[in-house]
Amino acid sequence: MTKNATAGPAATGEASRAERGEGYAVNAPYYDLILPRDRWDSLAGALRTLLPEARSVAEVGAGTGHFTEAMLGFLPADAEIFAIEPTRVMRAALVTRLARIAGARRRVTVLAEDALTAEPPVPVDAVVLLNLVMHFAPDERPRLWRRWAERLRPGGVLVVEAQYPQKAEPVPPATVPGRSLGRRRYETVTRADVVGEDAVRWVNAYRTWEGDRLVGEEVAAFDCHVVSDQRLAGELAAAGLTAVPDAPAGVRAWRR
Ligand SMILES: C[S@@+](CC[C@H](N)C(=O)[O-])C[C@H]1O[C@@H](n2cnc3c(N)ncnc32)[C@H](O)[C@@H]1O
Repeated sequence: MTKNATAGPAATGEASRAERGEGYAVNAPYYDLILPRDRWDSLAGALRTLLPEARSVAEVGAGTGHFTEAMLGFLPADAEIFAIEPTRVMRAALVTRLARIAGARRRVTVLAEDALTAEPPVPVDAVVLLNLVMHFAPDERPRLWRRWAERLRPGGVLVVEAQYPQKAEPVPPATVPGRSLGRRRYETVTRADVVGEDAVRWVNAYRTWEGDRLVGEEVAAFDCHVVSDQRLAGELAAAGLTAVPDAPAGVRAWRR
């Protein structure tokens, strides 16, 4: 076992940015208060449709565990989830959430590793990568897809959310309302700037309001890769998977 007091196991990319106080280190304290509820509910519904019988699931980039908890609600009672999350601050939220769910203690294993190194101990019926793909560069994605295609059982399904934007173009600022906690209300002002041929920088300002008084604002930037549906389809076909033609709205899915 490697002990590294600074970065934890295999801290790369966003995990190491967070260790420096950037990216998810800024985002994490707001995450569950600002996620767009309707969209997240519809993604959870899509998972329910696509993997009702899955007995083993790899959830890659599980974040604070919103979808881990949702899956525990509809997967078969003996189904096992491997929740892969390399970023320490996100994993703290994930483990805290799971520790208070009785069924999770037996059924969810948290792997503190990267998508390109994590190794669930059994082949899986489903690989779930939600709100993650944008963190992988074009030259990393073939390895990502091959790795997870190989860990799927025949007939197993791999699910990602529909990517946005579909091409590198500026996204004007928009305010996404979040939730209230006690006297305070949270929201995100989000925009994307083009920073490369297939890359945008999302700039998110997390705002805290008390009544009509702005009491806090923290900004996190994420450089993200843009992957069109067409490109995604080509990459997953190259990894040996077959598209699910009738995937629910908002997600794209492939089977081995
Ligand atoms: C936007 S969050 C999504 C979390 C969760 N899937 C959800 O939809 O709520 C992206 C997550 O992916 C994780 N992540 C970033 N790079 C990763 C990598 N290379 N391997 C695995 N997870 C990664 C981040 O730490 C973060 O928790």
